[in-house]
Amino acid sequence: MSVGKKFKIASIGAGNVGASAAQYCLELELGDVVLTDIVEGLPQGKALDLTEAGPIRGYSSQCVGTNDYADIEGSDVVIVTAGLPRKPGMTRLDLLEKNGNIISGICENIKQYAPDSTVIIVTNPLDVMVYLAYQKLGFPPERVIGMAGCLDSSRMRSFVAMELGVSMKNVDTMVLGSHGDDMVPLPHYTTVSGIPITKLLPQERIDAIVERTRKGGGEIVSLLKTGSAFYAPAASAVRMAQSIIRDEKQLLPCAALLTGQYGLEDIYMGVPCVLGKDGVEKILELEISDADQASLHKSAEEVRSGIAGLQERGIL
Ligand code: APR
Repeated sequence: MSVGKKFKIASIGAGNVGASAAQYCLELELGDVVLTDIVEGLPQGKALDLTEAGPIRGYSSQCVGTNDYADIEGSDVVIVTAGLPRKPGMTRLDLLEKNGNIISGICENIKQYAPDSTVIIVTNPLDVMVYLAYQKLGFPPERVIGMAGCLDSSRMRSFVAMELGVSMKNVDTMVLGSHGDDMVPLPHYTTVSGIPITKLLPQERIDAIVERTRKGGGEIVSLLKTGSAFYAPAASAVRMAQSIIRDEKQLLPCAALLTGQYGLEDIYMGVPCVLGKDGVEKILELEISDADQASLHKSAEEVRSGIAGLQERGIL
């Protein structure tokens, strides 16, 4: 009898996103989970709580909590959610300096203890943080990926489904660009069971869905008041981890290092990627309108200004 490899997933940051990601990983039985945080007791308490939910939820993977990075040793996938979340009135770029320092420190530990892992960055401002992580880790770019498009396209899927009164499972969307207000949702690549939404909805309703998708994170921040979204971000990161661990080759929008695609290079941006055991195995270059291409480049400018901000502060 052949026994499959047991995978290990490290969730760095045991806050709202990190703990939810751990929960989803356990429920999918993707592997054993190590929940890591700097706050003493927090990851240990959440890991124990998640373990105690196992008998009811039907999983038996291990979940341990720790403040010691040595415990992430040998992880196959590392999901990084450590950092500060947005408060009302803050943009993702406001988080730049604080989260930049946190990510730099964490990368040192990943390099030391999990040098063969594939790293999924969730911390905002996403496209800048994943570029920073890529530079600090020195891993091949296919093993350093940012979670954004998966979340933005899931938001758009839910808005289309709500608008049409159809199952969310029937809706497929694609959102390119940076994880900010300049992201590029693509209605022409949005379908309901194969039918383009341009055939199902008037232009003004499509425009409203695009706008709501762009502001999707902010909508949750202003409702929660004390933090930012976490269920959908965690679910998105875990969907990526699942595709990597199970070598599913799912085609998902992810922040990947561009090397000329869409006329952009040396920048991380959301593009359609095939995710498998080697991380980003392929980047697809879609035909997009001139207006969408212009938005993509505008969105790249925002990311470049964030990267310059890190350089000015000596973080990069
Ligand atoms: N190492 C490990 N954990 C850390 C570190 C560090 N160096 N610095 C901070 N943390 C932890 C905090 O102690 C906290 O428990 O990161 C956790 C962040 O959790 P929350 O404050 O609940 O934030 P969350 O909602 O999970 O968002 C985390 O994801 O979506 C993004 O914008 C969001 O950047 C934010 C990140």
